[in-house]
Amino acid sequence: MSDADNHQLRVSKIRNGTVIDHLTAGQALNVLAILGIDGSSGDTVSVGMNVPSDRLGAKDILKVEGRELTAAEVDVLSLIAPDATINIVREYDVIDKHRVERTDEVTGVLTCPNPPCITNGDEPVRTRFQVLDAGVRCVYCGTIVHEDLATLINT
Ligand code: CTP
Ligand code: ZN
Repeated sequence: MSDADNHQLRVSKIRNGTVIDHLTAGQALNVLAILGIDGSSGDTVSVGMNVPSDRLGAKDILKVEGRELTAAEVDVLSLIAPDATINIVREYDVIDKHRVERTDEVTGVLTCPNPPCITNGDEPVRTRFQVLDAGVRCVYCGTIVHEDLATLINT
């Protein structure tokens, strides 16, 4: 048993929800921002920062109770945390565990920052962004965003 296991868990187990594990230390708040999780929905959210990890030395971890991430949210997560593990928990058991996969395109979660873009007009056009090495590009108007992806999240 490793040293980290010998002691009480820092963040308790959850009954139902999503555990986003193996985040690079320091990433937890950015991930919350990019997923638009700010506590306003009333869901219980636990944040662990610089938690000792055998594999990573130190890691961040997020536990969002009562909520499973949508595929679109996982796509956005992959933009800033490509090495994270998503664990779906039901009745205390991990029923699904997968690594985040980098995608080529993110649909419907980000908003284009260019006001005249067709996706910001009256027509119901779902946003589509092509994933670049650094940042994303609107498929409709070509606007490229390198930083602050969290500010593009639909609310
Ligand atoms: N977890 C939780 N609540 C549960 C079950 C699991 O918060 N009811 C958390 C664990 O604390 C761990 C993560 O979900 O951070 C994955 O759980 P598990 O697969 O049991 O742990 P490990 O085998 O250590 O995972 P890995 O191999 O991915 O590091
Ligand atoms: Zn656009």
